[in-house]
Amino acid sequence: MATVEPDIRPVYHFTPRQGWINDPNGLVYFKGQYHLFAQHYPHDVRWGPMHWLHAVSDDLIHWQELPIALAPDADGMFFSGSAWYDADNRSGLGTVENPPLLLFYTLAGDRPQSQHIAWSSDGIHFQYDNQNPVVENPGIIDFRDPKVFFDPKGKRFHMVVAAGNHVEFFVSDNLRSWSYTGQFGPEGNHCPGVWECPDLFPLECEGRTYWVLLVSHIRPRESGGPKTQYFVGQFDGRSFQCTQPEAAPVWLDPGLDNYAAVSFSGVPFPLVIGWGSNWDYATSLPTQHYKGQMTYPRALRLLATSQGLRLAASPWPDLSRLSSAQPTLVIDQPGTTSALANPAVIRIQAQGAFQVRLSNDCDEHWSIQLSDDNELILDRQFATKDIFWPETPDDVFSRVRISRTSSPSCSLTLFLDRTNIEVFADDGLIACHQLLFARQPYDQLLVEGEATVTVKDLTGDAIILD
Ligand code: FRU
Repeated sequence: MATVEPDIRPVYHFTPRQGWINDPNGLVYFKGQYHLFAQHYPHDVRWGPMHWLHAVSDDLIHWQELPIALAPDADGMFFSGSAWYDADNRSGLGTVENPPLLLFYTLAGDRPQSQHIAWSSDGIHFQYDNQNPVVENPGIIDFRDPKVFFDPKGKRFHMVVAAGNHVEFFVSDNLRSWSYTGQFGPEGNHCPGVWECPDLFPLECEGRTYWVLLVSHIRPRESGGPKTQYFVGQFDGRSFQCTQPEAAPVWLDPGLDNYAAVSFSGVPFPLVIGWGSNWDYATSLPTQHYKGQMTYPRALRLLATSQGLRLAASPWPDLSRLSSAQPTLVIDQPGTTSALANPAVIRIQAQGAFQVRLSNDCDEHWSIQLSDDNELILDRQFATKDIFWPETPDDVFSRVRISRTSSPSCSLTLFLDRTNIEVFADDGLIACHQLLFARQPYDQLLVEGEATVTVKDLTGDAIILD
């Protein structure tokens, strides 16, 4: 297997110091810092007995890894879950002066999956609740990934849990005694199979409050593999009702490398991070000492479109506001190749069909194209050559095609990092993360068609917000 030398890392996307990561867990803003936990196997670069990795950040750009928060033992391993800062010490696990941070996780392994709590008074060292499990397994094999949220209307705590081919809801006043209140699905779902990593949060659109349910699905390799679907509707304090039925699944990210995205608690708007990889090839990524990365955080909004209510995403914080990231290059002459900084923010203002192509001296290139049929095409067929999937160079994982409904003019922002790119277009209605390993960084950019391109250099010490 070809490897990328040296063990290249993205600059502003989270990667583990060593070992494997998958789903983000327990995203929470706690005492002035963002905490990111993640499914983690520290001893090898493949999935193994699951630990919870722990990292903190002041700005969501620079991360510091802390000691592992939860490690498997004879009782089982630690599957995905969420965090809640119990500021009023409703659980009684901390004190009023020093309220606890609670982690809700699934204990899994050679046992029925059930929901448990670990808690901490310093946000670093965790101990187990002696009332565990707080939600017993009801006889469902796949019963996991608890997400805890607060309903401001009913003023109670709720937990949504993936339960086979649907989600189940539980309610609590003290975050420790939970009772079942209802379920959503599988009706209305267009993805048969097991549901994973649910999340539910309110969002306003045109003066009304809706609730958005995220659910991740493992899908067949032929259709591009795992993806995160969302439903828009209402939450009545007992369960979710989808009020905006769709003829086909609506995805949080139409790309191939964004799974199990969930939102932070303690942040007053939905701010999500996903696992920036894909179960179908995650283990064959060309890095040696670590495997897996997170997407850049995205703030979500709900917009009314001609297709119905849709999520729109903005990178948060906005990297294009970097003080030292002045526009270094403006290209308005089609057909010219320019030197490209990497990492960089690339803005494209297109009046119609265009192509922007990133390349290096190893005969590798990645392109984004707006076709005459108003389709955005992200093409990495020649971007990573035989690095990712040597056996199937032209398979389903090479190209992402996204149909646009708006006018042919299009404004896009591309966030290029050293192993991936994130594309935001049409006010965030299109938001796509794509892995992009190359033997050498892409350092050339070619513009063709009706587009003006501006590049901001993010190299050096540039990753500092205003
Ligand atoms: C999703 C998932 C979760 C589970 C975890 C195990 O990627 O399968 O449902 O908790 O990964 O690592």
